[in-house]
Amino acid sequence: MAKLCVNIDHVATVRNARRITEPDPVHAAALCELAGACGITFHLREDRRHITDRDAELLKATVKGLLNMEMACTAEMLAIASRLRPHQVTYVPERREEVTTEGGLDVAGAGPALAGGTAALRALGVAVSMFIDPDSEHIRASAALGATHVEFHTGRYCELYDHSPAGAAEEFARLERACSEARALGLVVNAGHGLNYRNVVPVARIEGMNELNIGHAIVGRAVFAGMDRAVRDMVALVEGRG
Ligand code: PXP
Repeated sequence: MAKLCVNIDHVATVRNARRITEPDPVHAAALCELAGACGITFHLREDRRHITDRDAELLKATVKGLLNMEMACTAEMLAIASRLRPHQVTYVPERREEVTTEGGLDVAGAGPALAGGTAALRALGVAVSMFIDPDSEHIRASAALGATHVEFHTGRYCELYDHSPAGAAEEFARLERACSEARALGLVVNAGHGLNYRNVVPVARIEGMNELNIGHAIVGRAVFAGMDRAVRDMVALVEGRG
């Protein structure tokens, strides 16, 4: 059974739009856990456009379930993650001009910093995941680097879902193949990006799927239905009770 980790970055985006202290992503994280989420994901970006260092510290101190920190492969982020020691770090590509994470990490073409960061975090007992497109070369490179997990980028499947059933089916088959290849190499498989209440069920049912990281759809629904309801509805779909 897949599990839900809620990405609470978008709550911080709303807060920061007013440069005040509310709504607080730390409060959101507590509500998500009380509503049944198995964990919380946050992305501490280099430009701190949503989650701040203060949020990261308080999330570490208060989250009871899995804490997954998304970050770019930089010396600054490695130092912060080494001090915070979340349960899991997910390496993501990061570009200042992007609205959200675009495309997976080029693990196959990565330099020594990614291998060094992975080894350093693993030595501290932190699980390390690579956010990658569902491609063999990046799966094999992630395993070779010593990652414990991969997170498959579901953005393409989600984009196709509403307007191209054939395209979505093809991309879904690619996700399934990638999942079995990664598991055969001993990697734990997560997935995320663009998942919503309409398209999530097939991905959650992929054999061996571990954890889904979902942010925008849940925070968007919470605006209308409340965070508790938004998370409970998604947990039911992810865990097969919807
Ligand atoms: N996984 C990763 C690595 C991401 O960067 C994001 C977006 O922050 C997500 C999952 C969640 O995507 P969404 O907000 O579209 O659910």
